[in-house]
Amino acid sequence: MAGAQDAVPVVLRVNGRRHDIQVEPRVTLLDAIRDTLGLTGTKKGCDRGECGACTVHVDGRRINACATLAVMQDGREITTIEGLGGADGSHPVQRAFVAHDGLQCGFCTPGQIMSAVACIAEGHAGSDDEIREWMSGNLCRCAAYPQIVDAVRAAAGTARA
Ligand code: FES
Ligand code: FES
Repeated sequence: MAGAQDAVPVVLRVNGRRHDIQVEPRVTLLDAIRDTLGLTGTKKGCDRGECGACTVHVDGRRINACATLAVMQDGREITTIEGLGGADGSHPVQRAFVAHDGLQCGFCTPGQIMSAVACIAEGHAGSDDEIREWMSGNLCRCAAYPQIVDAVRAAAGTARA
């Protein structure tokens, strides 16, 4: 195939599980997660680092999975939305999104939740303005922004502005 590159071995550690895969060096982390591992909870919106739908955690930090290559994340600890809830149920941020109607169509929601978990852990959820600023990399075409802020505020235990 024109332009095809040789696949190389990569170890992706996703949600506590090791995956030894072969991918072309040009394959994004997002495509490896969705197409090779079959974890489709991580969404592909823009595929160019602008919408945040593909947000995952790598070594505890949020990144856009479409904006990095799978080979660059070899051996790192990756968490996707499928790995967020514990064995005993959903994550508190997931429950807050449900309780506060933080979604409409739901397409952006996995990315919003992954970003919200990181936003709170970073200490960037101290006020509504701070939440809006530090969640601004996650776009919502349904414009559920007020409810998303409500959910993040509630999960963080922050007082309403
Ligand atoms: Fe990655 Fe939009 S799909 S930022
Ligand atoms: Fe539809 Fe955000 S809930 S894009």
